[in-house]
Formats: sequence, structure tokens, C-alpha cells
Amino acid sequence: MIDFEKYPVVPVIVIEDADDAEPLAEALLKGGLNIIEVTFRTAAAAEAISRISAKFPEMLTGAGTVVTPDQAKLAIDSGSKFGLAPGLDPDTVNYFKENNVPFIPGTMTPSDIQGAYKLGCKYMKFFPAGAAGGMNMLKNMSAPYTNLGIKFCPTGGVNINNMNEYLALPQVFTVGGSWLATKAQIAEKKWDDITAQVAAAVAKAAEVG
Ligand code: 3PG
Repeated sequence: MIDFEKYPVVPVIVIEDADDAEPLAEALLKGGLNIIEVTFRTAAAAEAISRISAKFPEMLTGAGTVVTPDQAKLAIDSGSKFGLAPGLDPDTVNYFKENNVPFIPGTMTPSDIQGAYKLGCKYMKFFPAGAAGGMNMLKNMSAPYTNLGIKFCPTGGVNINNMNEYLALPQVFTVGGSWLATKAQIAEKKWDDITAQVAAAVAKAAEVG
């Protein structure tokens, strides 16, 4: 069982070249983060996950934007320790469940939350957090479900300036975002910049008691 609450910030990664996987993971670890979401938005995702898992077993490596059971299979076969998606697809949720790999589906409405809960999920993304109404929306939408122990990872428009507003909510277990290592920074191999951004986010998260 993964204790997701140990990881206050999750970098959402879009990687085009699998050769960037190891230096990227190293940059995140140096900044103090041992979790990564490698999104299945590029052809390099599965290879990147295999390489990071092999070289950095201390990194909790997950697959993001997993939207079909086929991608779920590829994610798990590549060594993903968990999966996530922006939305809720029951077949994908069930594939992860059958393989005993934790999965965090995306939700944006009360019906999404109930659908995910019915499938056995307690950890969910709230996506796209900013565009859907931010902290106020999440607070109001999740209020009826607090007794169920459902917790959220807001992503989409989260950044260093607003992350702690979300983290201060008891129903938020972590926040995620691409600002921690942007596609452009990865392509330009700006590893020190990524480390600095990650360190800043880790320090910021520590301010929330
Ligand atoms: C996600 O899949 O979680 C989002 O694409 C991340 O959104 P961001 O780019 O606004 O951080």
C-alpha cells in the first residue's frame, strides 16, 4: 500500500526523449522529490518509466494520463508503481485494480466522485483544478463526501503561488503540476532550474502544518 500522503507535490511530466528520463529523475531527487508522474502523452513515456524505475528504485514512479486498459497494461509492464488520469474510465480503473496497482482517476463533478468511489477509489485527482473553480469549487464539491475518506490531488493551473491554498484543505493529500519541470525545460536539459523549482515547492509545502 502506497502512502500517498507522504508526497505533498507531484511533478506532472511530459517527456519527448527517453534519454532525458534519468537526468530528469536525478534533478527531481536532488530537489527533494521522490515521486514522479510520467504522462502517456508522448511515445517516450513507457521507456522513460522503465529507465527511471531501473536506475532510481527510491523514486515512486507513476504513469499519468492513462486513459485505456491498453495503456494501463503498458504502464504496469514498464514498472509503474501507480497510475493516474485526468478523467474516470471504469475499464482502466478495473485493470489497475485487478493488477493490484493503485490508480488515481480524475474527477471534476460530484458524479465523477461518486463513480470513482463506487469503483473503489479513495484518492482522486481534481482536474482541471484552476479552470473548474479552484479551491472554492473543490471545498464545496467535496463537502458531502468527507465522511467517506475521499482525498484529492488538484492538478491543472496549480503553481508555487497557489499550491498551499490547496494543501491547507484536509481533503487534499497532494498537489500536482507541470510547473515543476516543464516540457521546454526538459527538452532544453535545464536540470538545475528544475532542481531549484522542486526545492522551492518542497520548502513551500513544508509551511503547511
Ligand atoms: C495534469 O495532467 O495533471 C495537468 O496537465 C497538469 O496541469 P498543469 O500543466 O496546469 O500543471
